[in-house]
Order: sequence, then C-alpha cells, then structure tokens
Amino acid sequence: MSSYTQFGFENTKRMYAEALKKNYALPGYNVSNMEQIQAVLSACLRTQNSVVMQISKKAYEYIGEKLIAQMVSGAILQMKEEAKKLKLKPISVALHLDHGDSYELCVSAIKNGFSSVMIDASHLSYNENVKLTKKVVNFAHKYKVTVEGELGVLAGVEDDVSATEHIYTRPEEVEDFVKKTGVDSLAIAVGTSHGAYKFKPGQEAKIRLDILKAIEKRLKNFPIVLHGASSIPQEALEKINKYGGKMESAIGIDPKQVRAAAKTAVCKVNIDSDSRITMTASLREVLSQSPEIFDPRTYLAKVREDLMKMYMKKNVEVLGCGKKAK
Ligand code: G3H
Ligand code: 13P
Ligand code: ZN
Repeated sequence: MSSYTQFGFENTKRMYAEALKKNYALPGYNVSNMEQIQAVLSACLRTQNSVVMQISKKAYEYIGEKLIAQMVSGAILQMKEEAKKLKLKPISVALHLDHGDSYELCVSAIKNGFSSVMIDASHLSYNENVKLTKKVVNFAHKYKVTVEGELGVLAGVEDDVSATEHIYTRPEEVEDFVKKTGVDSLAIAVGTSHGAYKFKPGQEAKIRLDILKAIEKRLKNFPIVLHGASSIPQEALEKINKYGGKMESAIGIDPKQVRAAAKTAVCKVNIDSDSRITMTASLREVLSQSPEIFDPRTYLAKVREDLMKMYMKKNVEVLGCGKKAK
C-alpha cells in the first residue's frame, strides 16, 4: 500500500473548503503524458492555485499504474525547484482517478498512491449507485482518500440536449445521496457534456444554473463538481483544420457560463478536451511550419508552452482561481 503523502499529494478536503469559501473553482485537468503534467504544474504555480491532476481509466492503463504517482511526484519536486527560482509558493496537488467505473479500479488507484478517486456509478439505478459509492467511500476513508460520486448522467452529442431533462441531476435526491454514501464531493449533470463535439451546430449550449442553484441550496456548503466543461477554443480548431487536421463543428461551453458556475458551490471544473485540442493544434502548426524538425524535444517544448498558456488563462479568466483571478 502506497500512502499518497509520501508522493507529495494532498486530498481534496482543504482545497475544496477554500474554493467554497472564496467562490472560485479549482481546475480538474486530465493528463496522460509528461508534457501535460509539467504544463499543468507550471501554469498553476504561476497563477498560484491548487490543482487536481486527473487520470481517467484509459490514462491509468496508458501510462501504467506503477508509473503515474511516481511521475506526478517527480514533477511536483521539479515544480518546487521552479517555485524557488520564480520566488513563488509551491502549490498543492491532488492526484485523482477520474470516472472510476468499479470498486476494484478505485482500490487499485488508492493502493498506487492516489489521494482522491471518483466512483462514477451514475449509469446504475439510484440504489445501486448509493451501494457502490458507499463501498468505495468506506475503503477510501480508511486511508484519508477523498471520494467524488456522481448523480445524473451527462448528455452526449447524440442526445437532444433540450429534451433530456430526465438526465439532469434531480435536486431532490442529492441530500439523501450524500448522507447515505458519505462522499466528499458530488459531480452533477446540469447541461454540460463530455468531448469536443458537445452540441450540434445551432443547438444552444446552456448550463442549467437553476438546477445548480437548487442543488447548492439543498446541500449547503458542499463541494460540487462540473464535468464536461471544455470551451473548445475555435482558434485552436481553425489551426488544426488549417494544418491538415479534420475537426469540423466541434462546439464547447461558453466560458462565461462556466465562470458563472464557478462562483457557486462548484469547487472543481473538469477539463480534458481543451487540453487535447490545444496540443493537437500546436503540434500540427509547429510540424507544418518547421518540417525539418525531428527532435521531439523541439516540437514538444512548443506544445508544452502553448498548453501552459491555455491552462493559465483558464485558471484566471474562467475558473476565477489563483492570485490574478478575474
Ligand atoms: O471524462 C472523460 C475524460 O475526458 C477522459 O477521457 O477516457 O478518453 O481518457 P478518456
Ligand atoms: P471535457 O471533455 O469537456 O474536457 O470534459 C472532461 C471531463 O469531464 C473529464 O472528467
Ligand atoms: Zn467527466
């Protein structure tokens, strides 16, 4: 059993309590490679906010369960060196399993040093969701690992968002769910969706702030998590298409809506697609403009720099966290 403190991670308790008090949201950035991890830490160090470094099941398998905690831990040591040079305070980092889909996967992540896990049993019946989530919480809390549960199912691009009221989280269920499971935070479905193609062109992408507020009112000072909140920057998409890619009509969530949500009890906003798109745009551009380059360090340094800038902008302008929050 690896204890996450030996890797330099923190669980999400203190981070979310502060986010709740100060009405901002922390970033939950999904990563699957070294450059993303470095860019996340360099960005959050510069904006001076804590961060939840997220690993999906696919990323867990892609990187390898024994490498993840070591890799993020090494990157934290490096961030501390950078902090000294920049005369900044090192930031707190949680290593979080995103969308854990089984008890076994959550246990594996905890044994491998994660400080926070999500058990996503939102596709099951309410009672089954409660049962599985509670089982994970019982194990995790023995090791002071925090747990995120989910109620409601996020819409996909194939769904008619405006007609899928029933998939939104039902505010009348949240108190009972939190009480019965003992979760430390709750992911909800209020109109966002996963991936780059969130809505069909012409469809209105709208976060249901009314549902969010109703949940906030019932749970009172309890950390809420917003998934599927990438904005899909159109400049990056244009770059991808200009330099040989093919990503048509990808649409995300208006950053202003995410900003409004971040001012509520939403303590963490999950972002993955914006990072993928930024990396792809940057890589296509640099390889196309400098076809002679074949040293990965040359083109990945540029990708990492662009990623870092995107994360900094997101922290400050969309999530409202960090010292320079807007
Ligand atoms: O919420 C889902 C994340 O974007 C993870 O995606 O399963 O392709 O790693 P992935
Ligand atoms: P995006 O696809 O909008 O980036 O959402 C990511 C997410 O919710 C990860 O859990
Ligand atoms: Zn998600």
